[in-house]
Amino acid sequence: MTTAIYAGSFDPITKGHVSIIRSGLVAFDRIIVAVVINPNKKSLFTVDERREMIKASLDADPRVEVDGFEGLLADYARKQNVRVVLRGLRGVADFEYELQMANMNRNLNTEMETVFIMANDYFYVSSSLVKEAAILGGDVSSVVPEIVAKKLRERLGR
Ligand code: COA
Repeated sequence: MTTAIYAGSFDPITKGHVSIIRSGLVAFDRIIVAVVINPNKKSLFTVDERREMIKASLDADPRVEVDGFEGLLADYARKQNVRVVLRGLRGVADFEYELQMANMNRNLNTEMETVFIMANDYFYVSSSLVKEAAILGGDVSSVVPEIVAKKLRERLGR
């Protein structure tokens, strides 16, 4: 069985992330969506809330496991015994950073490789943009899963 880890902040998950995970499931039998726990980063949603939204956004697909991790992704992958990290490429702007990260991760864990999937839609979306638009009263329901739109309305008191 082939497994890949798809790591990120997911604060919150967007339809762009969901699209990468669904494409990832064409290539891999199982995907671990791993929420990075970073106590120094200010977030709108707790790690538990983010994990719940991810699960709901993927209709609790049994091929998708939702987890959280602290520290290095390279160490987490080793611990999980997974050799592939999945990343989405939204455009050339992502490339430089991804090249650096993939090579750094390769140095940190020689048993791990990064595999990229091209984003075919929602390439202009990021969690920060979604939050900014929602906070300023914009309707983001077309770019986030239904559960996320609902949670954003609740969190922002609408
Ligand atoms: N669709 C929509 N949005 C997307 C997207 C897609 N396909 N791909 C990425 N994004 C968004 C993310 O939501 C994120 O938005 P934000 O910055 O507004 O929160 C932004 O684009 C950047 O994404 P990403 O580069 O995946 O950042 P991240 O914070 O979600 O995840 C980690 C980064 C967790 C993978 C990385 O920091 C990590 O591995 N951390 C662990 C520590 C470590 O190992 N460090 C050494 C790395 S070499």
